[in-house]
Amino acid sequence: MGQQKSSNVVWHESIIKRTDREKLNGHKGAILWFTGLSGSGKSTLAHAVEEQLYGQGVHTYVLDGDNVRHGLCSDLGFTDEDRQENIRRIGEMAKLFADAGIIVLTAFISPFIKDRERARSVAHEGDFFEIYCDCSLEQCEERDVKGLYKKARAGEIPEFTGISSPYEAPVNPEVRVNTEALSVEESVIQVLDTLREKGVID
Ligand code: ADX
Repeated sequence: MGQQKSSNVVWHESIIKRTDREKLNGHKGAILWFTGLSGSGKSTLAHAVEEQLYGQGVHTYVLDGDNVRHGLCSDLGFTDEDRQENIRRIGEMAKLFADAGIIVLTAFISPFIKDRERARSVAHEGDFFEIYCDCSLEQCEERDVKGLYKKARAGEIPEFTGISSPYEAPVNPEVRVNTEALSVEESVIQVLDTLREKGVID
């Protein structure tokens, strides 16, 4: 996986550079990579951060696990291999968005450290911000917004993250948000403060 199969393909340099796009947009491109258990608040937080950025005139886009699995990744399931391919595609896609001068927010469980590190390594230096939505399994299970934990416990969903498939928490994320204790508003402030500190936004 990830090996280039096509030969005789030659990279075509763009006349308009990333710096030109960023100048036009008035801000830098970046990847905000939200990771965490199902129900930990990744999508909610990503969309709430996007709303604030949009209000500040920042060009954004949210790539969301459940949505992308309806289209680009509709051929993938939840085996370790399929999750790896899912995250590989999202990593490449996120890189393109950042290159277009957009702040892309990705909300995927992305359970494996190796796959997240790969997404970081394909991104341009300094573009990748790992945002760990830290919420205990007990809390996610209690919320069970989609009713999936109940099904997983009943044995109706195989390889469910946290129950019958592993989640490897980030060791040194750019931001660790305690989504169990903080409100969405407080979580948004924490993310935006970090982006400001790191010079991504003004
Ligand atoms: S990832 O592991 O490949 O990063 P992704 O974020 O795309 O997962 O999709 C996770 C979403 O798919 C969950 O929020 C949940 O709604 C749904 N889902 C369905 N089956 C599973 C499963 N076996 N494990 C985890 N999530 C699942």
